[in-house]
Amino acid sequence: MGRSPRILLSIASTALIGWTAAALIQGNTDISQQNTLNVDVCVIGGGAAGTYSAIKSKDLNKTVVVVEQQDRLGGHTTTYVDPVSNTSIELGVAEYEDTSIVREWFARFKVPLYQYNITIPGVTSEYMDFHSGQIATPEQGDLFGAWDAFQTQVARYPFLDYSLDSVPFLVPADLLLPFGQFITKYNLQDAVPYFSLYGEAWGNFVTLPTLLAIKYFPPSFFNPATLYSGAPGALASKDNSLIYEKATKELEPNAPLSSTVLSMDRSAAGLVKITVQTPSGKKLICAKKLISTIAPLIDNLKGFDLNETESPIFNKFRGHSWYLGLVNTSGVPDNVTLINYGINNTNNFNIPVLPGVYDIFATVVPGLHFFSFGGNDSQPSFTQSQVKTNLQDTLTRLRATGSIPGSSEAAKAFNIIDFSSHTPYEVYVSSEQIAKGFYNKLFALQGQRNTYWTGAAFVTHNSAAIWNYTDQLVTKMWSEGQSTTALSLS
Ligand SMILES: Cc1cc2nc3c(=O)[nH]c(=O)nc-3n(C[C@H](O)[C@H](O)[C@H](O)COP(=O)(O)OP(=O)(O)OC[C@H]3O[C@@H](n4cnc5c(N)ncnc54)[C@H](O)[C@@H]3O)c2cc1C
Ligand SMILES: *[C@@H]1O[C@H](CO)[C@@H](O)[C@H](O)[C@H]1NC(C)=O
Ligand SMILES: *[C@@H]1O[C@H](CO)[C@@H](O)[C@H](O)[C@H]1NC(C)=O
Ligand SMILES: *[C@@H]1O[C@H](CO)[C@@H](O)[C@H](O)[C@H]1NC(C)=O
Ligand SMILES: *[C@@H]1O[C@H](CO)[C@@H](O)[C@H](O)[C@H]1NC(C)=O
Ligand SMILES: *[C@@H]1O[C@H](CO)[C@@H](O)[C@H](O)[C@H]1NC(C)=O
Ligand SMILES: *[C@@H]1O[C@H](CO)[C@@H](O)[C@H](O)[C@H]1NC(C)=O
Ligand SMILES: *[C@@H]1O[C@H](CO)[C@@H](O)[C@H](O)[C@H]1NC(C)=O
Ligand SMILES: *[C@@H]1O[C@H](CO)[C@@H](O)[C@H](O)[C@H]1NC(C)=O
Ligand SMILES: *[C@@H]1O[C@H](CO)[C@@H](O)[C@H](O)[C@H]1NC(C)=O
Repeated sequence: MGRSPRILLSIASTALIGWTAAALIQGNTDISQQNTLNVDVCVIGGGAAGTYSAIKSKDLNKTVVVVEQQDRLGGHTTTYVDPVSNTSIELGVAEYEDTSIVREWFARFKVPLYQYNITIPGVTSEYMDFHSGQIATPEQGDLFGAWDAFQTQVARYPFLDYSLDSVPFLVPADLLLPFGQFITKYNLQDAVPYFSLYGEAWGNFVTLPTLLAIKYFPPSFFNPATLYSGAPGALASKDNSLIYEKATKELEPNAPLSSTVLSMDRSAAGLVKITVQTPSGKKLICAKKLISTIAPLIDNLKGFDLNETESPIFNKFRGHSWYLGLVNTSGVPDNVTLINYGINNTNNFNIPVLPGVYDIFATVVPGLHFFSFGGNDSQPSFTQSQVKTNLQDTLTRLRATGSIPGSSEAAKAFNIIDFSSHTPYEVYVSSEQIAKGFYNKLFALQGQRNTYWTGAAFVTHNSAAIWNYTDQLVTKMWSEGQSTTALSLS
């Protein structure tokens, strides 16, 4: 068979319906029985939501396969282990809300949890305008007061506590305001540096629909009083990738890594056929159910047989960008964290001007800092070398103005020793779409065509909340499954 997957894909996108039967039959003639896998459930994406879906199904004695495009499970969890000190530095997911689901999930893998501590003794934060190199001295406002005022507003919307599935059809007008207007309306300005730091990858978060901002900042998790006082508030493990390494071992050989979906056919009752490109060739997966956990941007759902109801929903999603890297010999003192402050960006609460480096954080390992970088809506995507150039120019400016020590020439000496792209990130829709009942339409897809959807776009970027929602979804999925006639595969 000479038909490449690429040709199959172009057929899929030009004739969405009806192509699958013919193309799949033709396309699959080279997939032998030996390369066909019959399972109860196929999970697409093996990050927080996907790994949870797979292990939970496995623990319910279902057969599972996870299709993951990276060469490891874990998604946004990326842990760097310093070879000298054997210390872990989390470049991605660092901490978890203290909930029963989180404790049970880590106990499931016998991975201990500790109280998370954001403070590194002796390290101070300095604000600088990374575009001009100037030191900034923002006024320290009443953060705790502004946070309390925010909580008063948040308490009006209890339907946002767990996932986005309970957003009412008639969305309250305040939730449709751009978050910047909401901040001004309720005098929350003193909390902006805090929103800006924890919500940094939202880009220009001032334009974000308030509904999504509120969903992102759950009262217990982001409470500055617990985070900054050192009182118990959040949990962390010594190495957040450990649960994923253990899950991979349990799921093997049914966790094909570096693998992508080529095509899919969900037209039959109780059966989903997925053709997957894996490092050992094309495989056909026949599953009773499909759980998609990937960022559901239309481009990322390529290979899915989206129909005329599904495509117009997913094509409303947009994504932000976020890149994280670890650098040595940057010349930034070990006891200093630098935060980008848009001195002249006064219309936007002085948030950083993008594209640009958001911040350069001290780590517990002397000599190492980690930085984060984001694009803007018109240029979201960057290569590692573009990010490196931007960081280098930033360090050069900060030195030229004397804001950090060392000569401008020395700014070229740093090394990026770890780098990860978290793009697309923080997938969102406009207020206009939310007002038109977007989330009702989205959640109405659950269970249709044997397909279930979870992950950050359906909840928010919070592992505890994602695991809670996914736990309920998978439980419901298998209890529904029991009432239908069991399908005999192969
Ligand atoms: C730098 C950073 C720090 C964070 N810190 C925290 C934190 O401290 N606490 C917290 O609770 N949350 C944190 N988050 C939020 C985090 O995103 C969520 O908690 C959670 O990990 C998201 O889970 P997910 O399953 O939706 O997505 P992911 O974990 O990204 O999983 C999606 C998976 O799908 C794979 N995939 C994507 N597209 C495809 C495709 N087309 N085919 C096959 N596979 C595909 C991806 O490779 C990935 O493995 C952080 C995120 C980042 C980026
Ligand atoms: C799964 O199978 C094992 C072994 O047969 C059994 O002990 C266990 O109760 C089953 N679990 C569920 C949830 O059915
Ligand atoms: C590194 O630390 C981990 C636990 O944090 C430990 O299991 C491992 O043995 C250590 N490796 C070395 C080389 O010390
Ligand atoms: C999980 O979500 C449900 C609501 O859907 C909520 O009642 C429950 O308290 C949550 N549990 C945890 C541990 O967060
Ligand atoms: C901010 O604007 C003022 C006045 O236009 C200008 O002098 C100054 O250089 C600008 N600063 C930055 C950091 O761009
Ligand atoms: C966190 O670290 C700070 C500084 O080292 C310390 O004062 C505080 O007690 C710690 N908090 C916890 C919960 O360990
Ligand atoms: C910085 O990283 C480079 C590349 O990994 C390495 O060769 C060098 O020894 C490191 N320097 C320090 C001071 O850690
Ligand atoms: C950081 O460390 C340097 C050198 O050790 C020291 O001179 C400086 O005072 C420290 N800065 C802070 C803010 O602690
Ligand atoms: C976005 O970034 C590009 C450069 O990458 C810049 O040309 C453009 O003006 C920026 N747009 C906005 C709205 O800031
Ligand atoms: C299209 O998908 C939707 C949602 O998954 C489903 O309800 C509907 O039946 C599908 N339509 C056709 C014609 O298959």
